[in-house]
Amino acid sequence: MITVSDVSVRFSEKPLFKDVNLKFTNGNCYGITGANGAGKSTFLKVISGELEHDSGTISISTGERMAVLKQDHFAYDEYSVKDTVMMGFPKLYELTKAIDAIYAKPDFSDEDGMKAADMQAEFGELGGYEAENQIEQMLSGLGLEEEFHDRMMSELDESQKVRVLLAQAIFGNPDILVLDEPTNGLDIESITWLENFLLEFENTVIVVSHDRHFLNTVCTYICDIDYGKITQFAGNYDFWYQMTQVLQRQAKEQQKKAE
Ligand SMILES: Nc1ncnc2c1ncn2[C@@H]1O[C@H](COP(=O)(O)OP(=O)(O)OP(=O)(O)O)[C@@H](O)[C@H]1O
Ligand SMILES: [Mg+2]
Repeated sequence: MITVSDVSVRFSEKPLFKDVNLKFTNGNCYGITGANGAGKSTFLKVISGELEHDSGTISISTGERMAVLKQDHFAYDEYSVKDTVMMGFPKLYELTKAIDAIYAKPDFSDEDGMKAADMQAEFGELGGYEAENQIEQMLSGLGLEEEFHDRMMSELDESQKVRVLLAQAIFGNPDILVLDEPTNGLDIESITWLENFLLEFENTVIVVSHDRHFLNTVCTYICDIDYGKITQFAGNYDFWYQMTQVLQRQAKEQQKKAE
């Protein structure tokens, strides 16, 4: 769970948002909506700790792992596709590399053997033996053909990289998944695959998207950013839209009455 308390963010005199109080709980998918430049991406960066906020606190339940869809399409150019995906689960990735390194030692000792056995046990507990298969399935589901699974990231085009970075974010069952425009560059089949994945995902998702159909399919809450405030509604995008129409009409009627 993430708790956002009295958070404010400003780049200039006027705050982008002020005194934001929200909770993001397990089992829910939160769609962040708002006009272009409203601060959706900024809000995700603040939540993931990539960007400092000016006041207030953001707390994440202890022991929870957050995964973020990386926006930098060149960051992994020197890594293979499968390594890039596995890096989404740093503990498992580092362990894999440590195991490779210990077995590659020319002076492999009895002590190394014991260490390696412990590492193998932890590898199993983290789901390491199933990892390769899972990674391949995710990549295929997201529309990356098998012939590219063993390539280097630098050999892929933009839309293929997006698919790998998405697989990276969702790999290893994070507790909190943060996605900014995940459907950009995806075809319909891949979007459907992602929708189904998110529908089955049991932890917390926070997602920005301009794709209304996608938001309607996956979201259980909408957090709308407007005039520096973030308002949370239970329901999907269409429900939120209808609500805002009713609320706007009520506000207008009240104003008329007051006049
Ligand atoms: N690091 C920064 N320094 C100064 N201003 C910034 C910075 N990052 C974002 N902004 C400004 O903050 C506002 C919100 O930007 P942000 O990218 O969060 O909007 P957004 O809702 O994601 O928009 P879009 O729908 O176009 O993706 C914009 O006016 C942007 O120019
Ligand atoms: Mg944005």
